[in-house]
Amino acid sequence: LELQLNLEEIEKGGYDHFMLKEIYEQPRAIKDTYRGRLLADEGIVRMAGIDQNMERFLNANRIIIVACGTSWHAGLVAEYIFEDLARIPVEVEYASEFRYRNPVITENDVLIAISQSGETADTLAAIKMAKEKGAFVFGVCNVVGSSIARETHAGAYTHAGPEIGVASTKAFTTQITVLTLIALKLAKEKGSLSEAEFHGYLTELEGIPAKVEKALESNALIETIATEYKDSTNCLYLGRGYNFPVALEGALKLKEISYIHAEGYPAAEMKHGPIALIDEEMPVVVIATRKGHYEKVVSNIQEIKSRSGRIIAVVTEGDESVKELADHVVEVPETSEPLTPLLTTIPLQLLSYHIALMRGCNVDQPRNLAKSVTVE
Ligand code: G6P
Repeated sequence: LELQLNLEEIEKGGYDHFMLKEIYEQPRAIKDTYRGRLLADEGIVRMAGIDQNMERFLNANRIIIVACGTSWHAGLVAEYIFEDLARIPVEVEYASEFRYRNPVITENDVLIAISQSGETADTLAAIKMAKEKGAFVFGVCNVVGSSIARETHAGAYTHAGPEIGVASTKAFTTQITVLTLIALKLAKEKGSLSEAEFHGYLTELEGIPAKVEKALESNALIETIATEYKDSTNCLYLGRGYNFPVALEGALKLKEISYIHAEGYPAAEMKHGPIALIDEEMPVVVIATRKGHYEKVVSNIQEIKSRSGRIIAVVTEGDESVKELADHVVEVPETSEPLTPLLTTIPLQLLSYHIALMRGCNVDQPRNLAKSVTVE
């Protein structure tokens, strides 16, 4: 037993928990994921699985993304990226719903399955069904040689390294990295971005690991914020556009490991329900980066404030307006809008980690949850 404990300590590499280690590994994991693929100087995205099947992607009526849990949230981010950059229609489906829905699938559809473990039963079943109906199926997995990696026609691995914490962190950001690379590659082929825009995104993506590093520097501040909210019973997460899925993911992280009820919502939908819940007991985490509907999110923040909600805002470095309204602000570096989720996710991961820890929860192995769900 002692030997096993020591081994675990070594595996944690000096961190108290796998989750924290994996959060901190993100700059490296993202770099490992784009290494050899993102060639900014040459202006190329190299991905054999896409090159060899370019016609399938270019002729696709639409892309259907299937996944579960955090991977589904990465799929939602990808929906915005693919439609915005590559102008391809995208649908994102929970694998568990898709497989039983008798969906309309044709040979001109491309299905992208996203799965960290590559073993999720519902995702695997969705793939098999789509294949039977003639769709081309592409996998985005982290575990090499996993069932989903083997069952798909082609794919691209994330190179996050092993993820042990049940709550997914580095798998999420590396999935977004791979999906961004794919979108950029298709955009270049289709000509949906100008040369300058395309090169701009490559350079910006290459610089993301350093910016994630910067975002991680807020850890001590987030720990202090966590002390104030650790006894909350509810929490609302709001974001718009690219950061709406980040709000969903932030809420999921908090639920999973701290057992606080949390909900993610598109900020503008707040007025259609959640606003009724807001009072001085309700912390609201708002992603309010300068790019993307900034003014509108600021007015959402004003609505929360006028109802005495407590506001924790994730903002772009140097922001002034939100600072005046929010109870707490956590800054992330500036980047182009489609890449903001890679940065805004970081403080939300840290917030859930610290709150869970302060509540005495088992951060790495939350109750009732499994790292991979291989049964229905
Ligand atoms: C479980 C895990 C989640 C994960 C989901 C999908 O619920 O606890 O962290 O996001 O399965 O897993 P996958 O391996 O398919 O990404």
